[in-house]
Amino acid sequence: MGQEGKNIVLEGFAKQFGDTEGVRVFFAPGRVNLIGEHTDYNGGHVFPCALDIGTYAAVRKREDRLLRFCSVNIPKAGITEVAIDDLDKARTGQWADYPKGVVWAFEGRGFKLDQGFDMAIYGDIPNGAGLSSSAALEVVTGFALRALYGFDVTNQDLAFIGQYSENNYNGMNCGIMDQFASAMGKKDHAIFLDTNTMKFEYAPIVLDGMKLLITNTNKKHSLVDSEYNARREQCARALKDLQTRVKVGSLGELSIEEFEAAKDAITDPVCVRRARHAVYENQRTIEAVKALADGNVERFGELMNQSHVSLRDDYETSCPEADILAEEAWKIPGVVGSRITGGGFGGCTVSIVKDEAVDTFVETIGPIYKEKVGYEASFYRLGIGDGPVEL
Ligand code: GLA
Repeated sequence: MGQEGKNIVLEGFAKQFGDTEGVRVFFAPGRVNLIGEHTDYNGGHVFPCALDIGTYAAVRKREDRLLRFCSVNIPKAGITEVAIDDLDKARTGQWADYPKGVVWAFEGRGFKLDQGFDMAIYGDIPNGAGLSSSAALEVVTGFALRALYGFDVTNQDLAFIGQYSENNYNGMNCGIMDQFASAMGKKDHAIFLDTNTMKFEYAPIVLDGMKLLITNTNKKHSLVDSEYNARREQCARALKDLQTRVKVGSLGELSIEEFEAAKDAITDPVCVRRARHAVYENQRTIEAVKALADGNVERFGELMNQSHVSLRDDYETSCPEADILAEEAWKIPGVVGSRITGGGFGGCTVSIVKDEAVDTFVETIGPIYKEKVGYEASFYRLGIGDGPVEL
């Protein structure tokens, strides 16, 4: 995050919209989730952190009621144009639906735009990597709207508005984790969030003699949204069945013992496995954060590995490519933990690796992955950054 990204997005703005007179530049980060996967829409806990990569927006108000968008990353797409009053019927399935959806969501809450704007976007998050490029785009749009139009909203509101627009404008029934991590990020800290109560704490990520590594499968995935939405429905069905037996409002409220005692109320065996993941993953997340606070990084790593196994076998949101990355990582001495992160079906793994094993990690897994999968994985050493800023 910084000057380089700002320059790139300003250049992109000038190319499409003429000049940069009076343009303001904003940034919102992507995120990586350390543990607590597919728990956020089940009333469970998550433990993500904001990254030091993300999405930049260069924005300037217009005199009329038009909104114009362009992306430095997709120059061929040119300018997308829509009138504020036409937003409701302006979905195209293209990238600009994300910022459009955020404006639409603001308007829906009574935050009316008196004038339109021109907006150029540039992102340094690899696309489709499961590092929340869409949440960063939503949050940076909301952050820019607040600054330009003086809307009275908090950073938490920006997260809710982003999620609302993604659910209702883009048709992806995501939980709150990604937008929350982007809007509320804190340098060198992860966010321990209870999605049932929305209570949260910042936990320092101090990895003495270790690194956080992110490895991208580079898998081009499709059907992510539909598979994701299907998981949500399966969890909802499991909960409904469980409610015939126990008084419970979400899967996140169940202890492992309570779940095991009541699980035969769930009629569909697939839904049993989905719910088992949600319940166990939530308890793992609570335990993992405690282990980290106690300085027990080894235990944190074991729980990361268990999280991967559960996502692979019970939740079935991993994929062969991410399984290779995680399973090869587990074989390397000095790898504390490794798991698929984010929505799944591709994307990245996140690993905690001792300093002395970092080179071995890359040098061992790189060639094995290439041989087994046929194309390369990418390895990133990213920092944990702050939430949105004006640059
Ligand atoms: C996606 C969603 C999040 C969360 C994760 C899985 O990233 O946007 O809300 O459900 O998947 O943990």
